Amino acid sequence: MIRSIQFVGIILIFINLTTSVTGMTVNNDQIDVSRQLSDVRYASSIQINDVMKHLDELQAIATASSGNRAVETIGFNRTLDYITNFLSVNTKFKITKTFFNLRNFQLLRNPTLSSTVNGVVKTHIYSVNPAIGEFNHPLYTTSANISSDILITAIPNLGCSDDDWLAASPAPAGLVAIVKRGGCAFQSKGTLASKYNVAALLLYNDGTTPNNMRPTKINLGQNNRVPALFLSYDLGKSLATAANDPSQVATVRLTIVTDNELNPVGNICADTTTGDPTQTIVIGSHSDSVPAGPGINDNGSGSAANLALAAALSSLLQTSNYPAYKYRIRFCWWGAEELGLIGADYYVSEAIKSSVVGERIADYLVNINLDMLGSPNFIFGIYDGKTAPSTTPATAKPGSNKMTALFQDWFDRNQLPWDYTNFDGRSDYGPFLAAGIAAGGLFSGADAMKTTEQVNRYAAMLGRNLSGIASIRQDICYHQSCDKTTNINKFALEKMVKATAHAIESLGQQSDLESWLYPTREIEEISKKSPPQQYQYDSINEYFGLPYN
Ligand SMILES: *[C@@H]1O[C@H](CO)[C@@H](O)[C@H](O)[C@H]1NC(C)=O
Ligand SMILES: *[C@@H]1O[C@H](CO)[C@@H](O)[C@H](O)[C@H]1NC(C)=O
Ligand SMILES: *[C@@H]1O[C@H](CO)[C@@H](O)[C@H](O)[C@H]1NC(C)=O
Ligand SMILES: *[C@@H]1O[C@H](CO)[C@@H](O)[C@H](O)[C@H]1NC(C)=O
Ligand SMILES: [Zn+2]
Repeated sequence: MIRSIQFVGIILIFINLTTSVTGMTVNNDQIDVSRQLSDVRYASSIQINDVMKHLDELQAIATASSGNRAVETIGFNRTLDYITNFLSVNTKFKITKTFFNLRNFQLLRNPTLSSTVNGVVKTHIYSVNPAIGEFNHPLYTTSANISSDILITAIPNLGCSDDDWLAASPAPAGLVAIVKRGGCAFQSKGTLASKYNVAALLLYNDGTTPNNMRPTKINLGQNNRVPALFLSYDLGKSLATAANDPSQVATVRLTIVTDNELNPVGNICADTTTGDPTQTIVIGSHSDSVPAGPGINDNGSGSAANLALAAALSSLLQTSNYPAYKYRIRFCWWGAEELGLIGADYYVSEAIKSSVVGERIADYLVNINLDMLGSPNFIFGIYDGKTAPSTTPATAKPGSNKMTALFQDWFDRNQLPWDYTNFDGRSDYGPFLAAGIAAGGLFSGADAMKTTEQVNRYAAMLGRNLSGIASIRQDICYHQSCDKTTNINKFALEKMVKATAHAIESLGQQSDLESWLYPTREIEEISKKSPPQQYQYDSINEYFGLPYN
C-alpha cells in the first residue's frame, strides 16, 4: 500500500470508519455463482507452507541486500529474478517481463529565482524549510536555465481548465505562467502548463489558512514535463498582481538543475496457456518494498501468495480431471507500487493504447489485488465495492460489488469473521478500476487500530487466541525494518490465500463471466444516474482526485 504523506490523517479516519462496519449479511442473489461450483480443489490444494517458503526467500534477499527490496536497489532486482526463476521451474505458464522507466529525481544544486517589476530587481530566497524560504522546488520539476528576463503571465482563475489557459493575456507559450493553488491537483496544472508550452511554471500557495502561506513541499508526479517552482502566498500574489497590471512590466529569471535520470523497472506476468486471452482475469501483487525495511507483510505477503496461487493452479491444470477454465488467468507482480502504483499504472496505460489481441484493455475482465495479507493483528478485510471513488466508471461498479460478495460468501461459509475495507483506488487495482474494469481483493490491515468490537467479534468465531488485541495497530511493523517473517500471522495469511483461490476458481468456472460482471441494464441505470466523466489517463492519483496537495 502506498502512503500519501498529505493524507495519512484522513486515510486513518476512513479506515477506522469503514472497517468498524460489521458485515454479517450477504446479498444472496449476487453470489449464486459460488454455490454451483463444479470443483473446489484449488483452495484446498494450497497450504501455508507453500506461501511461507517464498516469504523466507524474500526475507533472505532483503537480508543480503542492505535490508530492503525497494525499487532501484539490488534487492528489488533479486526479487524479480526469484519470481521469474520460480515461475519458470514450477509452472507451465507463459512468463513475460516488461520494463518501464522510472524517473529519478534529485536536485543537483539549489534553484535560483529573481524577479524584476518595473525595473526593481529582487533575488528570492530558496529553502526546503518553509519557515525560511520564499520558494521551494516541487518534486519532479524538470530543469531550466532562464538567464534573460522572461515575461510573467498570470493564468486566470486557478488554471484548472483549458478555458483558463486560453483566456490568459498575454498567451502563455514561451512565457513564465503563474498559477494559484486550488481547484485541482498540482499535477493537472502542470499538465496544462506543458500543453500550453510555457517556459516555466510558478505555482503559489493560496493563503487560505495560516498553513497555506508558506512554500511547502509539493509533488508534480512522475509524468511532469515542465520546470516549476512553488512560491509563498505573498511572493506569488505580488508577482501575479504585477503581471495583471497593464501599467507594470513583470519578468523573472530562474535556474533549476535536476537529475531526471530514467531507471528501468520490471513488471512480471505469468499466463495460463489455456483459456480465452480476450477474457483475462488478472491477479496482481506488488514486488517492491519501501526502502525502510524488508517488506515481508507489505508486500511480500501479496507477492508470495500470488506465487503460491500460480504454482498451485499450474499443477491443478496439469491433472487430467481438473476442468480447464474458459478464461485466461494472468498472475502479475507490479514494480514500484510504493512510489505511486507506477507499475500497474504503466500496465493499464499500455493496454489502453494496445491493439494486440490479449493485451488490450477490453481483454481484461477483472483484477484481483493481493494486498498485505498476513498482518500480525489482522482483520479479514474485503474491499467494499460500494466505496469505490465517485469518479469510477459505471462499467466497473456492479462487478466490483459482486467481487465483494464472492469473498464475503467464502468467509461466511467457513465461519470466519470479516470486515469491509475501503476501496479508494489507492493500490494497484486503482488503474484498472479507473479504466472501467471490475476489481476486488483482500487486505489484512496496516496502521489502523483493531477495535474492541472487532476483537470481540473475532473472538466469538475464532476463540481468544486468534482474536488479536484491541487498540493496537493491525500491523505494528507497517513500513518499518521489523516487517520480517516474524511479523506474519500465518493463520490469517493461509485463510486469505484460500479465499483468493476460491474466488479465482469461482470466476474460472463461470459459464459467462462477462455478463455476470458487466450486466448491461444495471450499468445503463448507473450511467443514467451519474453520467460518465471525461476520462484522461494521465495519472491515477489525479483521476481519483487524491493528492490535492
Ligand atoms: C500490497 O500490494 C498490493 C498489490 O500491489 C497493493 O495493492 C497494496 O497496496 C500493498 N499493500 C500495502 C499495505 O502496501
Ligand atoms: C536492476 O536491473 C536493471 C535492468 O536490468 C538494471 O538497469 C539496473 O542497473 C539494476 N539495478 C541494480 C541496482 O542492480
Ligand atoms: C545558464 O546559461 C548561461 C548562459 O548560457 C550560462 O552562463 C550558465 O552557466 C547557465 N547556468 C546553468 C545553471 O546551467
Ligand atoms: C490458546 O493459547 C493458550 C496459551 O498459549 C494455549 O494453552 C491454548 O491451548 C490455546 N488454545 C487454543 C484453542 O489454541
Ligand atoms: Zn506499502
